[in-house]
Amino acid sequence: MNSSTLALLVAAAAFSAGCANPERSRNLADPNVSATTLAEQVCSNCHGVTGSAVSPNFPNLAGQIEPYFVAQLNGFKSHSRQDPAGFEYMWGLSRSLTDDQIKGLATYYAGQSPARQALEGDRSRLDAGKSIFETGVADKGVPACAGCHGDKGQGQANFPRIAGQHADYLVKQLTVFQRTGDRPEGGIMKTVAHELTRQNIDDVASYLQALPNL
Ligand code: HEC
Ligand code: HEC
Repeated sequence: MNSSTLALLVAAAAFSAGCANPERSRNLADPNVSATTLAEQVCSNCHGVTGSAVSPNFPNLAGQIEPYFVAQLNGFKSHSRQDPAGFEYMWGLSRSLTDDQIKGLATYYAGQSPARQALEGDRSRLDAGKSIFETGVADKGVPACAGCHGDKGQGQANFPRIAGQHADYLVKQLTVFQRTGDRPEGGIMKTVAHELTRQNIDDVASYLQALPNL
C-alpha cells in the first residue's frame, strides 16, 4: 500500500478508535467495556470482525494461541515490542487495556476459525517452503518450524499459530527477528532465522499462508 492509503487507514482507525467519536472513545479507555465489544467495534477495523484481516498489512488473529496473544498485547502496551508497525499501530490502541480485557480478547480470537487464504506462488516454491517447514535447512542448522509451531503450523503451548497468516506479515516478522531486537521474546527466532536467505523466507511464508488449503 502506498503511504497516502496508509495515512488514510490510520486516520480512519483513529476516528473509529476514538478521536472524533465520544461513544467509541469512552469504549477504548473504559475498563468496563467487554472484550467482545472492543473486538467488534475497534479491533475489527484492521483485523476483521472474526480476526481474519482483509488487508495483508494486518495480521490475522483468528485461532491465535492465547498466551502468545496476551504476551504480544502486553509487549505493545509496555512498549517492549517495538517493531515499526507495532509501534505505529498497536502502542496507542493497547495503552488503556486492562488485564481482564486483554485476557478476554485472547479468548475471543482463539475461538475464531481461521479463514482460508489465497494460494500464491508456484508449486516449486511452495514445495521448497514445505521442506523448510517440515525439516528445516540441514546444512545451515535451521530447525524445522513444525517442531515448535506444530505439525500444521497451528501453534501450541507458547508458540504462535503461523498457518494461514498473510505471507507479507510473515516475511516482515521473519526479517524483524533476523535483523533487529525489536521483539522482546525474539531470541529463539533470531537464532532460527539467522541463516535463512530472502528466498527461503519468501518460500516458507508462501507455504504457511497456503497451509490450510493444501
Ligand atoms: C489501525 C489498525 C489496527 C487496529 C485498530 C488494531 N490493530 Fe492490532 N495490529 C495492527 C498492525 C499493523 C499489527 C502488526 C504490527 C507489527 O507488524 O508488529 C497488529 C498486531 C497485533 C497483534 C500481534 C499479532 C501477532 O501475530 O503477533 C495483536 C495481538 C493485535 N494486533 C491485537 C489487536 C487488538 C486486540 C486490537 C483492538 C483492541 C487491535 N489489534 C486493533 C493494526 C491494528
Ligand atoms: C525452537 C522453537 C521455534 C522454532 C524451531 C521456530 N520458531 Fe518461530 N517462533 C518461536 C517463538 C517462541 C515465537 C514467539 C516469539 C515472540 O514472542 O516474539 C515464534 C514466532 C514466530 C513468528 C512470528 C509470528 C507472529 O504472529 O508474529 C513467525 C513468523 C515464526 N515464528 C516463523 C517461524 C518459521 C518460518 C520457522 C522455521 C524456519 C520457525 N518459526 C521456527 C519459536 C520457534
